[in-house]
Order: sequence, then C-alpha cells, then structure tokens
Amino acid sequence: MTDAPTRLTIRRPDDWHVHLRDGAVLNGVAKYTAHQFARAIVMPNLSPPVTTVEAGRAYRERIVAAAGPGFTPLMTAYLTDSIAPDEVARGHSDGVFTAAKLYPAHATTGSAHGVTDVANIRKVLERMEAIGMPLLVHGEVTDSHVDIFDREAVFIERTLAPLVRDLPGLKVVFEHITTAEAAAFVAESGPNVAATITPQHLHINRNAMFAGGIRPHMYCLPVAKREHHRLALRKAATSGSAKFFLGTDSAPHAVGAKEASCGCAGIFNAPYALESYIAVFEEEGALDKFEGFASLNGPAFYGLPVNEGTVTLEKAPVTVPDVIDANGTPIVPFHAGETLGWRFIG
Ligand code: DOR
Ligand code: ZN
Repeated sequence: MTDAPTRLTIRRPDDWHVHLRDGAVLNGVAKYTAHQFARAIVMPNLSPPVTTVEAGRAYRERIVAAAGPGFTPLMTAYLTDSIAPDEVARGHSDGVFTAAKLYPAHATTGSAHGVTDVANIRKVLERMEAIGMPLLVHGEVTDSHVDIFDREAVFIERTLAPLVRDLPGLKVVFEHITTAEAAAFVAESGPNVAATITPQHLHINRNAMFAGGIRPHMYCLPVAKREHHRLALRKAATSGSAKFFLGTDSAPHAVGAKEASCGCAGIFNAPYALESYIAVFEEEGALDKFEGFASLNGPAFYGLPVNEGTVTLEKAPVTVPDVIDANGTPIVPFHAGETLGWRFIG
C-alpha cells in the first residue's frame, strides 16, 4: 500500500464556465480566476448581454486589462431569438467567440434577453454545427408549472434530447449539471456531448440552503438537488470519463444583493476553486483523476491544446475568509469561514 499523496502537480488547468462581470467588480474578481487558471470560458450575461462581435472583442480587452498577463479569456456569444447566424459565425472565424451560450429566457440571472424557443435559433445552431462551434447550454425549462427541482430533468426530455438527436454534429456542453439524469444523459450521448460540473454541486445538496435558517450564499441556479444527485455528480466527475470537466460557474454578487428579500442566484467560488474541487477528488479516492477533469478533458473537447506549465497543490489547512473585498464590493465566497485541506501553491 502506498501512502496517500501530500502534494499534487498537474498541468495548468482551465475554468470552462465563469462569470467575471464588468467594471469595478471585474477588476476585483478577475485576478482570482487568473491566479489558478490559464484560460476561462467567460459567460456573456452582462447588462446588456454580449450579442455582437464588437461587444465580445471589447469585453475581452477589459478582461485582459483586469486580469493581467498570462491569462486568456475565451469569449462567448449570448444567443437571442433574433441573433444572426452570420454574426455568430463571424465571431468564431475572427477568433473572438470560442462558443455561444444558450440561456432559456428568464431561466436565471441576466437571461431576460435569452431564447424563448430553440426553434427560433435553429439556423444559428445549424451554422454552428457546420463550423464546429460549441453550444453551451443552461439546461433548465422556464415553465413555472414545473417544480424548480425538476427543471433540469424536464429540459433534457423537452429540449436537449431532441436537439442532440436533430443536430448530431453539434458540439454541446451541458453546463453546470446538477442531477443524476443529466450525468446519465451525457454519459450515454455521443462524443459531441459533454458537461461541466461546479464545486458547489459536488459539495452541497439542497439541505445546505436551509441549514438552521435560509442560507442565500448556498443558492445558485440550477439549484442544488437531493443527496443522490450530488453523489451521482461526484461519481461522474471522478470517473475518468473525458466527457466531464471543470467549470466553476463562479458567479459573484455583492453581499447585499444575496442577503435580500429576493436574493440573486450565484456562488462566488473562484478564490478557492481548485482547493474546493481537490477535496472532492481526495474524498472519492480519485486524486489520479483530478488532472483529467481539471486540465485535459476540457481542451480535448474544445479542440484546444493543453496548457504549458503546471500547478501544485499540497496538503495543508487553508481557512477561507468570511468575505472578500472585490475592489470595493464585499462578496461572500463559497466555503466562507471553513478550513479546507489543500493549499494552492501555484
Ligand atoms: O447561479 C447562477 N448565477 N446561475 C446562473 O446561471 C447565472 C449566474 C449569474 O450570472 O449570477
Ligand atoms: Zn453560469
């Protein structure tokens, strides 16, 4: 029997799903993602959303200025009912848009301009299939008659399964999956279908939102589900399957916007993202699968090279602060006040 490792060095990882916001908050949060990751897929749900090549290019410049050298933001186009296939394709061929994001209208934060029916973007999706541009999907139905805990599973049936069947050549990332049904759907689909998994959905189930009182900092969308779903996600993430990769969905909101009568959805996990994920892989006895999940599977799916260089984590206690000052905006991070077992060295 070999001793459990106390240090782990992996290829430098990427975050395949992050919200970096804009303005002062961008300048306060970008450094956390850039510290741990070489590249990140940046979500376009700004206000107004990133729906043109010019907006994507300008946002990319602001991110590069905020993050400093050594970090590459990979931009996404925000799909609307009326976005032109030519605009999306031009963004891709110009090297501005790596992918395009489908937000069902009113599914989550910043989705008011999203798609009301995927039939409305059929031509865009056909074009993306033809040029090999990945579609990133927020997979929840928005029908208020569907229970919030069922919205992801129902989306698979009503929207995603037919989409994947009709456009088999389209690369699809099912973002931030939260259910056993989503993990199974991805595992059973062809090689063009993959998924990101967040740290919070590996750590918490829905009880965390109600532990001793209402816990707004445990609320994100898709919402955390029952324990058996969390266990299925852990199994998928640590399985070694190349279809599952790291995407934090780090989504910073000011403390006051979370602790409110109608608090925003989103968990800010970027500052301790790798420390959070590696705890799960250690608990599952799967540290040997961590590099694939964090650093190899994402690039393989997107058709990008793996990063040069490495990062190292070591077993040592790290206490997460109660609050982080993001350039003047106080934000409560995931694991606030907890002590994690691994330290990111760099
Ligand atoms: O919890 C979430 N927050 N889910 C999303 O889909 C959007 C995100 C945000 O932008 O705050
Ligand atoms: Zn997101």
